[in-house]
Amino acid sequence: MSSMRPVQSVSTAELYERWAKVYDTDGNILQAIDDVQLPALLESAFAPFQATNPAAVLELGCGTGRNTVKLLSPPYASQISKVTAVDLSASMLAVAQSRCRDRSQGPSRTPAVEFSQYDALHPTALPGFQPVDLILSTLVLEHLPLATFFAAVKSLLKPGGTLVITNMHSEMGARSQAGFVDPESGEKIRGLSFAHEIEQVLDFSKSLGFLPVGDVVERGIEEKDLGDGVVGERGRKWVGISVWFGLVLRLED
Ligand SMILES: C[S@@+](CC[C@H](N)C(=O)[O-])C[C@H]1O[C@@H](n2cnc3c(N)ncnc32)[C@H](O)[C@@H]1O
Repeated sequence: MSSMRPVQSVSTAELYERWAKVYDTDGNILQAIDDVQLPALLESAFAPFQATNPAAVLELGCGTGRNTVKLLSPPYASQISKVTAVDLSASMLAVAQSRCRDRSQGPSRTPAVEFSQYDALHPTALPGFQPVDLILSTLVLEHLPLATFFAAVKSLLKPGGTLVITNMHSEMGARSQAGFVDPESGEKIRGLSFAHEIEQVLDFSKSLGFLPVGDVVERGIEEKDLGDGVVGERGRKWVGISVWFGLVLRLED
């Protein structure tokens, strides 16, 4: 049935302006896998930071704040002084702001969080921004050439800083690209994705002075993920295929 669906190819900016309204509820498998896999990467990345030595953090491509809100919650909240969350899409940012406003009304202390529109393809200075100790960027790299992504990161990160990246795996990228079904029109809306291979990411980032901390983690979809409810039925066609990878990098001093 889905092969009969009309498909519309749009720019990345338009994709996320339209996707924002259903991004958190349309059963996207990459978000589900990212939720399961990210904590181990964050644990490694935040290990050097404590309440007495908190990290200034920037989230590049924060989207609807799916992971921003995790940074404002235990165990990370006490290890962070401030979160700057940036994204290309005003609609995605609006959802993130609303989600984090709810969080900051909670009982426990949360780090300050500031949202800004920012396009890594055409970067402009963020007012009052100082390079940070740690950058988190989940499921964003596929939208950008490696040179653009890492140039943006390098301009925003302190020397010696840490970068946590998660991304669509190239095995999935060879078969698909970011997109969603617009519930209003019934159309499949898809954008431009790059199927970056892990070796390419490691080689390119190394040329700019980034070195891996620990191993690159790769994750496929297994039958068990459907049985356990980790992913919904949309995951069935991806069984046996690597869909996600994540890694922590450190920028040389
Ligand atoms: C798949 S979503 C991921 C959102 C969020 N990080 C998450 O994991 O749920 C990709 C995000 O990257 C943002 N993005 C794409 N291209 C960008 C660019 N050139 N500059 C900044 N953000 C960009 C999109 O607007 C979108 O919110």
